[in-house]
Amino acid sequence: MLKFFRTDRKKETENKDISIDLNNIPRHIAIIMDGNGRWAKERNLPRAIGHKAGVEAIREVVKECSVLKVKYLTLYAFSTENWKRPKDEINALMSLLAEYLKKEFKELDYNNVIINYIGDISKLPDLCQRELIESHENTKNNTGLTLNLALNYGGRYEIARAFKLMYEDIKSGKISEDDINEHMISNYMYTRNMPDPDLIIRPSGEQRLSNFLLWQCAYSEFWYSNIKWPDFRKEHLHRAIFDYQNRDRRFGAVK
Ligand code: IPE
Ligand code: IPE
Ligand code: MG
Repeated sequence: MLKFFRTDRKKETENKDISIDLNNIPRHIAIIMDGNGRWAKERNLPRAIGHKAGVEAIREVVKECSVLKVKYLTLYAFSTENWKRPKDEINALMSLLAEYLKKEFKELDYNNVIINYIGDISKLPDLCQRELIESHENTKNNTGLTLNLALNYGGRYEIARAFKLMYEDIKSGKISEDDINEHMISNYMYTRNMPDPDLIIRPSGEQRLSNFLLWQCAYSEFWYSNIKWPDFRKEHLHRAIFDYQNRDRRFGAVK
């Protein structure tokens, strides 16, 4: 048993020559970028350094998703529960976000990426809000990968928000009770007009959703790994896609 786990872990870290079917690339990949803190702790470094190191993984994964022609990439960067963390850590995360957008904007735009965000960004520092809104405005007409940054995002918050918006529309007569169905509810989510995630990746060894895309994950394939986010590279993305392509998605039916 132990041997099996060891071999398995080794496989993940090897740069294995696996062949991905470019005709079966997930349209929407969502990643819970986890393990920055533990990555830093292992090296006796402050947690903020782990977050900084995680930015390199973001760069590589975004680039590779563009190359592979993934249509949507959603990165869970800050949850509605992450406000419980120490102020210093929150500040470090917010500074990294603003810095990332400033530094990477040109390259992302050059690569035809649409920069988008999901979550209640009104609670973020003004600078972050400005960078996000500007980056979105300046890239919204691009036609490549849509990069959704999930910021102050919570799946339950998103569902509660959808209820409120729907209630407003019912009150104003824009919609009626008869209009309510699954498709229509999806259109009240931040991810309206986007396909549900085909593949949800969580590194760092945790196997939970932590309030991520609760409505959208009904038939998502999950992929977990012990790799901590700062060590996540395109080889791991390839492995996740390869495994995804070898799964049998039945959606409740019989083949
Ligand atoms: C993920 O890494 C980044 C955010 C949640 C913002 P963590 O900071 O959760 O790292 P661990 O889980 O403590 O290792
Ligand atoms: C989920 O990670 C949120 C992000 C990666 C942004 P957490 O580290 O906050 O989740 P828990 O606390 O381990 O469930
Ligand atoms: Mg964590």
